[in-house]
Amino acid sequence: MQNINPTTTSAWKALEQHKATFGQTTVQQLFAQENDRFDAYSLTFNDEILVDFSKNNINQETLSLLRRLAQECALSQATEAMFNGEKINRTEDRAVLHTALRNRSNTPVLVDGKDVMPEVNAVLAKMKVFCDRVISGEWKGYTGKAITDVINIGIGGSDLGPYMVTEALRPYKNHLTMHFVSNVDGTHIAETLKKVNPETTLVLVASKTFTTQETMTNALSAREWFLAAAKDEAHIAKHFAALSTNAKDVAKFGIDTENMFEFWDWVGGRYSLWSAIGLSIALSIGFENFEALLSGAHEMDKHFRNAPIEQNIPATLALIGLWNTNFLGAQTEAILPYDQYLHRFAAYFQQGNMESNGKYVGRDGKVVNYQTGPIIWGEPGTNGQHAFYQLIHQGKTLIPCDFIAPAQSHNPLSDHHSKLLSNFFAQTEALAFGKTKEEVEAEFVKAGKSLDDVKDIVPFKVFTGNRPTNSILLRKITPFSLGALIAMYEHKIFVQGVIFNIYSFDQWGVELGKQLANRILPELADNEKVSAHDSSTNGLINQFKAWR
Ligand code: F6P
Repeated sequence: MQNINPTTTSAWKALEQHKATFGQTTVQQLFAQENDRFDAYSLTFNDEILVDFSKNNINQETLSLLRRLAQECALSQATEAMFNGEKINRTEDRAVLHTALRNRSNTPVLVDGKDVMPEVNAVLAKMKVFCDRVISGEWKGYTGKAITDVINIGIGGSDLGPYMVTEALRPYKNHLTMHFVSNVDGTHIAETLKKVNPETTLVLVASKTFTTQETMTNALSAREWFLAAAKDEAHIAKHFAALSTNAKDVAKFGIDTENMFEFWDWVGGRYSLWSAIGLSIALSIGFENFEALLSGAHEMDKHFRNAPIEQNIPATLALIGLWNTNFLGAQTEAILPYDQYLHRFAAYFQQGNMESNGKYVGRDGKVVNYQTGPIIWGEPGTNGQHAFYQLIHQGKTLIPCDFIAPAQSHNPLSDHHSKLLSNFFAQTEALAFGKTKEEVEAEFVKAGKSLDDVKDIVPFKVFTGNRPTNSILLRKITPFSLGALIAMYEHKIFVQGVIFNIYSFDQWGVELGKQLANRILPELADNEKVSAHDSSTNGLINQFKAWR
């Protein structure tokens, strides 16, 4: 990976100049100037996903300067380095190969001179056999009953991806009831265990490191709960499996390594749903559907790697995002799926993006002088419309939004889907074009009001518009299209990380809190007053001890 501060490139400087002249042009004006804007500013993937980015404050010059920026920041070289297994995660000395996990073409992918594909395929084959046995009921619990419930215990990347996809693909699910436990708050595991029977429950302990405090604590509580019923550790093998890179600690925990589904250090936690971490997905929707998810992602990988930048969907979205944050002053990006099944999609990419690109140190080890990853958030439409859209429409903060919707619903109930989609279309129209003072006045006149009577109300009803959005319309949410959609966002994050000149695949920023919590934990063992911290932390701990 090269080491280029993007602000030193000629493209960045040209973009700054471009911003000074073009930056004030509104989306309304752009549509008035270019009447084929939809055709010129939208791209389609596989006749499955349409990405319309026309409602952004960009013109062809903006795009060509942004593409030049990508070129000057050596994007293609970085992309090849990732796909070819180079150790682009330098601070952890690791390759970044979630693309190998879904490499359905099965072409060799070398890490340290060794092809990883045979191992990838072997784990997939093992997952398939396991899924088939559990789903068919051939796999029996300790009293001879088939499995009815699966609990995935994991956190972060070992929870968000599997949970998000399992929910997104509910229409494809079988009879197994899935549960996801992540929080170390005992309530999470306690409430889950109330719903299940140890005789018919399978627990997946999902942890890349197999050392994460939350996961190991929940796993131990689940083990205790299970043994209280089963009475014999020999039965653990029928009810616990591990998804991990750490065979030693899996064995120490007492899980039969036969029941361990392995992955490797070149799989980042937040990019791991394609690996053994996806076992809960495969159990929930069946292995064939899991393979279709991988295939969709693989097709998007090929598109990202091979399509010229002008037609490259992830690169285009990344460049527009960078324009919005670094030149138009946006600090956040909302992801708004108009699909109830995608209710965890924004939460998933909150980790995906913010843990990847929420960094202030560049690849040169110096503090950067530009914006890196945005704050990602969002909720499904139309709920969000009745909660936070007010600020998106009329607030002082610029919030670029991605609107996502399927053309076909899995639940075509009366006119629900038309109503849902009418809102999807209306929102981006309103955000782009707004409503002028004249339009507001005309509405009042039409309703029989005198302009004099309403003149104090008019300003509150004006919408400036000119608020950037992308619309992502899928034919239908299927395992294939969802795989492609997720991979699209992953590569968007990658492109931005390359240009931001940061290391997107480490996460040192989560360490300090973990370290301090480990230091504080023993201090909570007794009721002695603590004084080793600052006065606030001491005060809080001491009040906790007094009240508990
Ligand atoms: O929050 C930090 C992190 O390391 C994430 O990157 C990761 O997804 C999560 O913790 C869980 O880690 P593990 O899979 O090792 O339990």
